[in-house]
Amino acid sequence: MPVTVVVGAQWGDEGKAKVIDLLSKEHTYVVRYQGGHNAGHTVVVNGEKYALQLVPSGVLYDHVIPVIANGVVVDLPTLFKEIDMLESRGTSCDSLKVSSRAHLIFPWHQSHDAISEAMRGDDKLGTTLRGIGPAYADKSRRVGIRAGDARNPERFATLIRERCTAENKLIGDAGGEELDVDDIVERFSVMGARLAPYLSDTISLLHNALAEGGHVLLEGAQATFLDLDHGTYPYVTSSNPTAGGASVGTGLGPRDIDRVVGITKAYTTRVGAGPFVTELFDDDGKTLAEVGHEFGTVTGRPRRCGWLDLVMLRHAVRLNSLTELSLTKLDILDGFDTVKICTAYSHNGVPITDYPDQYDVLEEIEPVYEELPGWKTDITAMREPGQLPAEAKAFIEIVEREVGVPVNVVGVGAERDDYLVWAS
Ligand code: GDP
Ligand code: IMO
Ligand code: MG
Repeated sequence: MPVTVVVGAQWGDEGKAKVIDLLSKEHTYVVRYQGGHNAGHTVVVNGEKYALQLVPSGVLYDHVIPVIANGVVVDLPTLFKEIDMLESRGTSCDSLKVSSRAHLIFPWHQSHDAISEAMRGDDKLGTTLRGIGPAYADKSRRVGIRAGDARNPERFATLIRERCTAENKLIGDAGGEELDVDDIVERFSVMGARLAPYLSDTISLLHNALAEGGHVLLEGAQATFLDLDHGTYPYVTSSNPTAGGASVGTGLGPRDIDRVVGITKAYTTRVGAGPFVTELFDDDGKTLAEVGHEFGTVTGRPRRCGWLDLVMLRHAVRLNSLTELSLTKLDILDGFDTVKICTAYSHNGVPITDYPDQYDVLEEIEPVYEELPGWKTDITAMREPGQLPAEAKAFIEIVEREVGVPVNVVGVGAERDDYLVWAS
C-alpha cells in the first residue's frame, strides 16, 4: 500500500505513535500532516521512552525519511530541542524535511492562547497553551510567517519585527505582557538560519517519491473528535486531523490514499474540556487512569477516562473512510471483573443512531452499554490471537462487528513489540 494514513479515532493519545512505529518498518517516508507541538507521541524501545511532539514517529528507523508537511504549525524552539534530544540519543535527523509552506509558531501565538483561555473564565477549552489556535488563525487571516520565509534572512527578520510589533499592541490592549521585539527577532533569526537546510518543497518530494515506488505513511496528530470541523466544537483543536486533512496537509490527492488506519484505545480518554458520553467518575474510571498511566504527555494533566464508545468509532469510520482499526491498551482492562462497551446512544429515552451535531446534546446523551465478563489475565506477553483469553477475543470481535471494520493489530503493552497481529 503506497500511502497509508494513521488517524486517531477518539480524542487523542490513542497510541498512534506506537502503531506508526510498527508501520514505519514498511514505509520510506513518515509524514506529519497537521497540528504542532500540542501532540505528544510516545514510542518505547527497550525501556527507553521517546516522547515526540513534532518530529514524525518513524524517525527511530534509519531507512525512514521524516517529513513535516505543509499542514503542520512549527514551533522552532521545540523542533530544535527535539532534534538535539534525538541526536544526543544516537538518532540522526539529517534526513528530516520541513515544508517551506508550513506556518511557524511565535511567542505572540502563545500569549494569545493564554489570554483567550483566561478570558473564557470558567469555560476554558483546556488548550495545551502552545499557541496552536492563534497560529492557525493567522494562517487563515493570511498574516502567518512560513518556514520558507527563513530562506531570505533579511525578509524573515523584517516579517518577524512587523508582526511582533503589531501583535504587541493587541497583547497590551488585552492586558497581557508585551514581548521583547529585538530579542524575538534575534532568537528567531538564529533559528531561521538553522532551519534553512531542512527546508523542502515536500509536495514535490512526496509525489516524486511515489512515482519512484516509495511508500508513504501519513501521521495524524490529535484525533477525529478534536477535528475543527468534525469534533465537539468549540472543544476541539484548530486543525483537521481527519483523513481529509491528510490530503490537504501534504498535497497528496485523496485518490493517492490507499489505506486509512484508525487508532482506538480499548477504552476512551480525553484531556481538556468538552462532552464525553462514557466518562466515568467512579472507581472504574480511577482504575483506568491509574493502570493506564493516563496523564498527558505534553502538559502532564490527568486524562479523563471512560468506557469504549462504539458510536464514536462508527462515526470515525464514516468521517475518515477507515479501512481498519488498531485497538491499543487492551492490557489495561486485564484486571476488571466486567468491562463495558457503549454500543448505542439514547437522548431523553429516544435512541440516537447518527452522531449528534451539537455538543450540548452530547452532554445529555445516555450511553447504552453491553457488559461483558472480564478476562482477569495478564495478556502483555501474548503475541498470537490464539493465546488470548476467550473473553478478550469476544471483546475484539464485538468491536469489529459493531463498528464494521476489521481490527488489524491489538496493543498489549507499551513497548514497541507489545502487540499481536489480529488480522492481516
Ligand atoms: P499518541 O498521542 O496517540 O501517539 O499516544 P500517546 O503516546 O500520547 O499515549 C499513548 C500512551 O500509551 C503512551 O504512553 C504509550 O507508550 C502507551 N501505549 C501505547 N499502546 C499501548 C498498549 O497497547 N498498552 C499499553 N499498556 N500502553 C500503550
Ligand atoms: P496527540 O497527537 C490529546 C486537546 C487539548 C485541548 C484541545 C485544544 O498526542 O493525540 P490545542 O492546544 O490543540 O488548541 O488544544 O485539544 N489536545 C490533545 N488531546 N492528545 C493530543 O495530541 C492533543 N492535542 C490537543 O487538551 O482539549
Ligand atoms: Mg499523545
